[in-house]
Amino acid sequence: MRIYTEDIVQHDGKEIELKGWVDTRRDHGKLIFIDLRDAKGIAQVVFPPHDKELVEQAGHLRPEWVVCVRGTVQKRPANMENKNVSNGAYEISASGIEILSESKTPPFSVTSDGREIGEDGRMRYRYLDLRRSRMQKNIRARSNVNAVMRNFLNSKNFVEIETPILGKSTPEGARDYLVPSRLQTGLWYALPQAPQQYKQLLMASGMERYYQIARCFRDEDTRGDRQPEFTQLDLEMSFVEREDVMAINEELLIHIVKTLYPEKKIQEIPFPRMTYREAMERYGNDRPDLRKEKDDPHSLAFSWIVDFPFFEKNNEGGWTFTHNPFSAPKSQYMDDLLKQKNIGEILTSQYDIVLNGWEIGGGSIRNHRPEALRAVLSIMGFSEEKIENHFGHMLQAFEYGTPPHGGIAWGLDRLLMILENEPNIREVIAFPKTGDGRDLLMNAPSEVSKEQLEELRIEVKKSTKKHP
Ligand code: AMO
Repeated sequence: MRIYTEDIVQHDGKEIELKGWVDTRRDHGKLIFIDLRDAKGIAQVVFPPHDKELVEQAGHLRPEWVVCVRGTVQKRPANMENKNVSNGAYEISASGIEILSESKTPPFSVTSDGREIGEDGRMRYRYLDLRRSRMQKNIRARSNVNAVMRNFLNSKNFVEIETPILGKSTPEGARDYLVPSRLQTGLWYALPQAPQQYKQLLMASGMERYYQIARCFRDEDTRGDRQPEFTQLDLEMSFVEREDVMAINEELLIHIVKTLYPEKKIQEIPFPRMTYREAMERYGNDRPDLRKEKDDPHSLAFSWIVDFPFFEKNNEGGWTFTHNPFSAPKSQYMDDLLKQKNIGEILTSQYDIVLNGWEIGGGSIRNHRPEALRAVLSIMGFSEEKIENHFGHMLQAFEYGTPPHGGIAWGLDRLLMILENEPNIREVIAFPKTGDGRDLLMNAPSEVSKEQLEELRIEVKKSTKKHP
């Protein structure tokens, strides 16, 4: 019977079978040891010297070979115990071994934490890189955070709903990724920058509470805290005010930390709040790092930033939104918004959640009345035609009884990065892109065939760039 390495402690004296990778092999004269690694950790296997054939076989084993080992679980001699691992008082005395798959010598070691290895190499061989315990831990932690979020939100009547990946290009902030349509030649889908419009339409649909662990796509330059595709915990609620959305998110963040990161200490509960103006005056930015103990990896300083200006001047001297065109202003500014006056003074209902100096999320109460959304778009200088073309579906939906609603989206990659004490979000994403937006493992983006382009009726101008 195959068991996991961490469970050998429950099988003292019994015959068991382990399956996994050869982490290391150590030859001590006539004795050979291997550390066998599986999804749960590592167990020590010893090949007893009296079984010459088996020892000979074990002598051929190399790192990263995949094997099945049969043997008996036994206590290690007292002075040989490994106190650092939960099964370190036990080992397996092997009686048989089967090689399931051999491995070439890997291009780098997977037993270290990988910090000493160039990132290009790690990305090119990501499937090997992911074998290291640091990456195993990060990726599994992410799954655990997802599970805790789902349980929490399901218990609060949220409905998990998938929204389309092939959507419509709308001027909402970042540059869109475009996908050509084959059936509607010359027309394009856009990959979603966020499920913002769909989640609001779900409020118009009477779902009342929606969430999604949603993939978002933005054609921006990549940074340590930014990927061209990233993941949000996206949620939206009907019949709520700002305080309701902030309260449930605060509760969920605290719940995640207490459940999965009990060693960490949240500096202040309830999370402190600051206006945008205070943050700028005191810290010179709107995502201040409020930690008192910056050297302590277990300190978590959450804060809410509120009262952002709704609009700012763009490079052409017109107005643009600072956060989200769908936001409602704070209620006392609704009049000004509708009359389109004192525009620079209008504050939005936007709230950002900041953790240790990173913006990990943001949201707002929305304009659910069509005239208010229309006023925002008009302040931004959009023509009637542009408004109809890009936002007509939202304005129309709001004419059929849409409840007041609001929501938020967290940058899940950023949250995980901080919880796992990682220096950038690539370390918590299974298959991230490089700084210049490439996937070195699959070699994407890549050229496509002439036939594919012809079918789409697309002609590519000669690129001046030399592709690597
Ligand atoms: P926003 O654009 O602020 O809001 O995004 C929400 C959060 O997503 C994270 N984030 C990113 N993470 C990694 N790479 C990126 N390129 C990237 N861009 C953003 C940040 C950010 O706080 N629809 C609204 C939310 C709402 O109002 O409900 C939105 O997308 O942590």
